[in-house]
Amino acid sequence: MTTDLARSQQENTVDETLSFEEVIRVRRSIRGFLDKPVPDSVIREVLQDGQYAPSNCNTQPWNTHVVLGDRLKQLSALLHAKNDAGEFTPDFTFDQNNFYGEYRKRNDALGKAYYEAMNVMREDKDGRRRVGAMNYSFFNAPQAAFLFMPSFGDNVRVAGDMGMYGQTLLLSLAARGLGGIPQTALGFFAGTIREFLGIPEEFKMLFGISFGYVDEAAPGNRIHMDRVPVDTSVTFHA
Ligand SMILES: Cc1cc2nc3c(=O)[nH]c(=O)nc-3n(C[C@H](O)[C@H](O)[C@H](O)COP(=O)(O)O)c2cc1C
Repeated sequence: MTTDLARSQQENTVDETLSFEEVIRVRRSIRGFLDKPVPDSVIREVLQDGQYAPSNCNTQPWNTHVVLGDRLKQLSALLHAKNDAGEFTPDFTFDQNNFYGEYRKRNDALGKAYYEAMNVMREDKDGRRRVGAMNYSFFNAPQAAFLFMPSFGDNVRVAGDMGMYGQTLLLSLAARGLGGIPQTALGFFAGTIREFLGIPEEFKMLFGISFGYVDEAAPGNRIHMDRVPVDTSVTFHA
């Protein structure tokens, strides 16, 4: 006989049995989290998984800063203020105008899906700004990870390592029924975040990851981005 406790435990048990393929496909960028902190032990498990990411010459360059609770609220207020004032302090350049052809079309498709989900018209500049600023509320997540890295040469290979690490964290979250979103928008304020957290200048930041329990009802989570067919991306040579 199933007791109430057992039943509720079963219901609260996230899909630990997801196959590898399911984990990859279930992961998507989450733009709306519940105001419910993830237990420290689970955060540690996810970070432990991240340690297994591959890296150039085994440098394991990730220096991750997890920010929670009141400290995250303070950081959110600071980032909103800096964003409103247009005081950007990125470590790396970013210009969407660099996208061309198919790449630009794919970026446009994201913008369309995003603003439609949020009920904002394309020409509504204030609305778009408001929606963009949700990045600085961490989409309501009670915790966020800031992925800092040491600076080696032109940093391209370190950035590759950080991408591998970031995806490992995101898949680990997905496997636990949690969600996350990598955010270049946080990288626009790398200098501010470094100073706020007391991180030495030698460490640089490309992006952060807000993560937590998924708010299934949040409008931002209506976005599902398609993928181009594999033959568009892959060429076989034999
Ligand atoms: C490195 C990186 C940075 C990103 N930065 C942001 C961001 O600042 N804000 C945002 O809403 N989405 C951001 N995204 C999410 C992308 O828009 C998303 O991955 C893409 O549209 C594909 O959708 P999916 O992740 O749901 O599969 C970022 C993704 C990556 C990989």
